[in-house]
Amino acid sequence: MSPADQIRPIRWQNEALELLDQRRLPAEECYLRLEEPEAVATAIADMVVRGAPAIGITAAFGMALAARRVAGKVDWRESLNRSADLLRRARPTAVNLGWAVEQQLHNAGLCDDATTAGEQLLHWALDLLAQDIRDNQRMGALGAEVLPPEGGILTHCNTGSLATGGFGTALGVIRAGIAAGRNWRIYADETRPWLQGARLTAWELQKDGIPFSVNVDGAAGHLMARGEIQAVIVGADRIAANGDTANKIGTYTLAVLARHHQIPFFVAAPLSTVDFAMSDGSSIVIEERPAAEVRQCGGREMTPAGVSVRNPAFDVTPAALIAAIITEKGVVRPPFLEGLAALGK
Ligand code: MRU
Repeated sequence: MSPADQIRPIRWQNEALELLDQRRLPAEECYLRLEEPEAVATAIADMVVRGAPAIGITAAFGMALAARRVAGKVDWRESLNRSADLLRRARPTAVNLGWAVEQQLHNAGLCDDATTAGEQLLHWALDLLAQDIRDNQRMGALGAEVLPPEGGILTHCNTGSLATGGFGTALGVIRAGIAAGRNWRIYADETRPWLQGARLTAWELQKDGIPFSVNVDGAAGHLMARGEIQAVIVGADRIAANGDTANKIGTYTLAVLARHHQIPFFVAAPLSTVDFAMSDGSSIVIEERPAAEVRQCGGREMTPAGVSVRNPAFDVTPAALIAAIITEKGVVRPPFLEGLAALGK
């Protein structure tokens, strides 16, 4: 078993959902046990689990817990709808969250009673988890063929095992490429304010024994200008039908910098991250998170008391800045509208 196979952010254990608490990494590796859909929604909002595919899978388990709780009740469908609303609202930007909740409501609609729904929804969540890992491995193999064979590869946020069921999207491509012998130097943006790069990507790459360095977000342009970066690869929270891509705040900045330096900019994401109902990125809802995340770092106040803060958690990179979108079913080049639609069929 490779180290990547051992990182399991989401697991079903003894009739409950267990999440590796990502707020505590890298200092502590501990699981939080969740038995109620309300606790699952809170864990998503509080970043116990994060990353678009991972929160989709977590919400699927949240719906399974909700269905199992209402077994034997007459009004079980209304109760399930209330849990669905709560889970959907936990974080607005990642399409995978709402997608997984809708899938589970659809699955419940096919069941005659709550007991059957409880069983079916749990099955579906477990299948989704297993399928996500297989899709990521496929995406990794496809993506490794597309990136330059050698040089510096810059990534942003955490898109690895922790952000998915396992293996990862953009970080999965990095894993697959390194395993296939690519001569890459990996650069991980630290990713303020949650430090997903410095804490989580670094933790995963270190476990895998992949050489890398962490840089502050503001160093990306300098590293590109010095010729250290040959490609950028990121994940996605929601991709509009035309390829406009919402991802962790700072991604758009990287894409603009990459274009200026004529460096290819890649997105790796499962097809479940494509929102075919959204024609372009202008209507993607961008989550604004609490001011305290910016005012503080490591529990210490970093700004004078009470300063005004903007904390958008995501931004939208226009499709025109993206060289290719790597999915589990194939690599799409511009124009994305036709290519994504063909894979999505
Ligand atoms: O706020 P987060 O940590 O949930 O943001 C995660 C990202 O932006 C990832 O890049 C994205 O979800 C893709 S993860 C495979």
